[in-house]
Amino acid sequence: MKIVEVENGNDIGQKAAEVVIRQLRDKPSSVVTFPTGNTPLPLFRELAAASKSHPRLFEHAHFVTLDEYADIARKDRRRLFSWLSREFFAPAAIRKEQVIAFDPSADDEAECRRIEERLEALGGLDLAVLGLGPNGHLGFNEPGSCFDSRARKVALAPESIVSNSTYWGSEADVPTHGLTLGLGTLREARAILVLVSGRAKAHIVSRLLKEPISEGIPASVLRLCPQSTLMADRESLSVAFRR
Ligand code: GLP
Repeated sequence: MKIVEVENGNDIGQKAAEVVIRQLRDKPSSVVTFPTGNTPLPLFRELAAASKSHPRLFEHAHFVTLDEYADIARKDRRRLFSWLSREFFAPAAIRKEQVIAFDPSADDEAECRRIEERLEALGGLDLAVLGLGPNGHLGFNEPGSCFDSRARKVALAPESIVSNSTYWGSEADVPTHGLTLGLGTLREARAILVLVSGRAKAHIVSRLLKEPISEGIPASVLRLCPQSTLMADRESLSVAFRR
């Protein structure tokens, strides 16, 4: 895993957008997954702007949703898909048929199989852009997730319930389960870019870089992936590098 240090969260947006745009220029039919959360917001702003100046940039790409809450209605506005639609798909004028998204109201097992099959038919992920959960999760691959896992339904960890409660009003309202691409699937991506910003992530970044690679820190799997890059701002690296 390569580490790229940038100044702050906005710089992550700019630099990550350069990586995504280069990927799409090199391979216009790329298959890409994006995370949700606060960290990628500057990236989505940059990509929406790029889609205005280069209207055909995303024309042949496909986007697979990384994760989703389980057992909620397809039309629920708090779906991660709705969030991605507001922040990226709509502003960047991505067409419906370019998006492969978990349907939270479908049968979980059949739905996870469908996503894996679609992904396989498209040739797998070219670029996985990921965020880092406060407990080291990637997507909803919570601590204990097997490094070879595939798309599946998972129980959300207590830390994820807390961090997601801002979107749901209270912890009691957060769905107890999620659907996620597995670590095995993400590891097979031809390029992986993990975005991390802010002091609140400094401790988990330090653990991810320094503790032994283990399923207790799902993101530590990235240290086994030579094609992965951790793009982190100064604050998020402050504990790992003791500044
Ligand atoms: C959620 C999402 C993850 C995301 C994480 C970090 O739990 N399921 O995909 O990476 O939040 O979010 P933030 O960038 O807001 O810290």
